[in-house]
Amino acid sequence: MRVGLLTGGGDCPGLNAVIRAVVRKGEMEYGDEVIGFLDAWDGVMDRRTMSLDVHSMRGMLPKGGTLLGTRRGSPYERDGGLETVVKTFDDMGLDALIVVGGNGSLTVAHNLHHDLGLPIVGVPKTIDNDVVGTDITFGFNTAVQTATDAIDRLHTTAESHDRVMLVEVMGRDSGWIATHAGIAGGATVILIPEQPFDIDEVCTILRARHQRGRYASIVVVAEGAEPAAGTMPSQEKVYDLVGRVRRRGVADRLAPEIEQRTGFETRVVLLGHIQRGGTPSAYDRVLATRFGLGAIDAVHAGAWGHMTAMRADEVVLVPMSEAAGKTRPVDLALYQNVASVFFG
Ligand code: F6P
Repeated sequence: MRVGLLTGGGDCPGLNAVIRAVVRKGEMEYGDEVIGFLDAWDGVMDRRTMSLDVHSMRGMLPKGGTLLGTRRGSPYERDGGLETVVKTFDDMGLDALIVVGGNGSLTVAHNLHHDLGLPIVGVPKTIDNDVVGTDITFGFNTAVQTATDAIDRLHTTAESHDRVMLVEVMGRDSGWIATHAGIAGGATVILIPEQPFDIDEVCTILRARHQRGRYASIVVVAEGAEPAAGTMPSQEKVYDLVGRVRRRGVADRLAPEIEQRTGFETRVVLLGHIQRGGTPSAYDRVLATRFGLGAIDAVHAGAWGHMTAMRADEVVLVPMSEAAGKTRPVDLALYQNVASVFFG
């Protein structure tokens, strides 16, 4: 078969491991020709490709990012985009397309399959771990480890100066990274998008802790965390080039509020894209490899409109319609029954 593959949305550690696994099994077991599209859907519409074979996969397993490049945006946003995609399939004789992406890319993949009947299989990825239908996405484990390493380092300087450290992590709609890194890093408070926070309550926790002595505090805040209505002045939304609300910066808003209310010196650390960069953890390499193998098997099973997913440590196929247009919130039991036990 002629199998196309693209990586879409924000990058994450493990994308190259998926590509490698698809190519390995596709070429060696099924005799497939695998074609990589550069820069996500742009590559499909502009016919920018790269042929992928086992030889070219050497050294790819531990490499972060994606060798194919990635973009946000979709054929639905370009005039004549859908016709161009169909033409690419026809002209290139594509039998299948594997789309490795997060919520946005999987929604587009689902729609293209649904609207045009294209033979598409999805693979979920994102450091945010917020894809519905799978227990976990690759990239998450690496991001949590990176954030935890940073928090570990911040403890010592926070303690030396007896300060509050606000650590902002990624997670525009969900608090998965914040909750896991916060538990692993011994956070004093964790703020997540799923639970609007009251700044006065946060300050009460910080004051109580500091009254016990020189107890510096680490507050882990997900970039999408929001103050409860009426508790802080609202802020004007800023949009990025593809029209998404820019989330970054909630910690910068919080720091002066905390300093003013508590009198404790407060510093901000924005981990930002450091969480997305670099080599994948061993866990993510294994997960990405399993998803890649699952995807090429799904292609040969003709499981169009499905994506690989992890359920109870088994790779299974689930309809992409389960994930399309949704976001998986953090497990609130983990937040309420585990993380918050250690607040204060
Ligand atoms: O991949 C998802 C994500 O990590 C979000 O948590 C974050 O808001 C977003 O990417 C930022 O991505 P970019 O800077 O590439 O738009």
